[in-house]
Amino acid sequence: MTAKISTPIRALEFYSGIGAFSQAAKPYGIEVVAAFDQSQWANQVYELNNSQKPSSRNLDSISIKDIPEADLWWLSPPCTPYSRRGEQKDMSDPRAKSFLHLIEFMALKKPATILLENVEGFLHSKMYGHLCQTLESNGYIVNSIKLCPTMFAVPMLRPHIFIVARLAAATALPLITAPPQASSAKTLSNFIDYGLNEDTAAHLLLSEVDAEKYEPVLNVVDLKDASDAAQYVICFTSGYYRCRKASGSLLRLESGRLRFFSPGEILALLGFSADFSLSNLALPICYRLVGNSVDVRAIDYLLANALQ
Ligand SMILES: C[S@@+](CC[C@H](N)C(=O)[O-])C[C@H]1O[C@@H](n2cnc3c(N)ncnc32)[C@H](O)[C@@H]1O
Repeated sequence: MTAKISTPIRALEFYSGIGAFSQAAKPYGIEVVAAFDQSQWANQVYELNNSQKPSSRNLDSISIKDIPEADLWWLSPPCTPYSRRGEQKDMSDPRAKSFLHLIEFMALKKPATILLENVEGFLHSKMYGHLCQTLESNGYIVNSIKLCPTMFAVPMLRPHIFIVARLAAATALPLITAPPQASSAKTLSNFIDYGLNEDTAAHLLLSEVDAEKYEPVLNVVDLKDASDAAQYVICFTSGYYRCRKASGSLLRLESGRLRFFSPGEILALLGFSADFSLSNLALPICYRLVGNSVDVRAIDYLLANALQ
C-alpha cells in the first residue's frame, strides 16, 4: 500500500467554517482543492478570504464521487456530541452522522494524512474508539495530542484534542509530541484593541443590569488588577455574547464598565492574520463563527510536524 503525495500537497477541508485550516495551510503552499460546510455565513467569510467557495451540501449525505482525490484531509466536526455542555449522546447524536459517514470514506479513499480536531471529551468517546479502530485496521498510525494556545505563548485557555493519522506505508515520521515550553509569552495587552472604549464601542458593552445580575458567573479580566503577564482569557465559545456563563471572558474598561472582546480581538487570539475579514455580517453571527473556529497556531504546529 503506497500513497502517492502530490506537489503541491492537495488538501480537503471538511467542516471548514471560516477556514482556520486554510489560514494555517497558506505558508506551506498547500492547495485546498475543496472545502465543505453547510453554513452560508461561514461560507461567505471563507470565500472572502480564500479564492473559493465551500460546498454547502450537507455532509450527512455526501457521496464518495463528490470527494476529490487529496493527500490530506482536515476535519473539524461538530463537538456537541462529546462536549460537557451537550448531552454527550456520542455516536447516536444526529450531529455525529456526517462524521460517521466520512469515517467510512476515509477507509475507501485512504488519504496519506488525516488531521482532525475536537473538544477534550472526544478522547473518551465511542466515536474516538471507532475512528481509531477504523484507521488502524486500514494501515494508519494514529496519534492524538492536546494543544492549547498557552503552549504557543498566547494568553488564552482553549485546550483541544488534535488527531494525526498517517498511512504507515507513506511515512516514517515520529509521533507528534507536545511543543517545548514557550520561552516568551505574549501578554494579553498585545491583543487588546485600545481604540474600543465606552465611547467608541457601545455595541460591545455589557448592560449594567446584566453585569450585576451575572457577576458571579462572569469571567472578567482587568488589566489593572494584576501584572499583565498573569492575565489570560478563557475559551470563547460560539455562545459568547448570547449566554453569560463561562462562554468567554469580558474586559473591564477604565470606566469600570464591562465589554465583550470584539470578534477581531478573538481572531487575533486564535492566530488569524490581521487582514482576515468577517465581511459585514451581524455581530452575533460573527461571534458564532469565531467561537466555532480553531487555533491557527495549533494547526500550523501539526502541519510542521506531519509534513516534515
Ligand atoms: C466546529 S465548527 C468548525 C469550524 C472551522 N474549523 C473553522 O475554522 O471555523 C463545525 C462546522 O461544521 C459545520 N457542519 C456541521 N454539521 C455539518 C454537516 N452535516 N454538513 C456540513 N457542514 C456541517 C458547521 O456549519 C460548522 O461551521
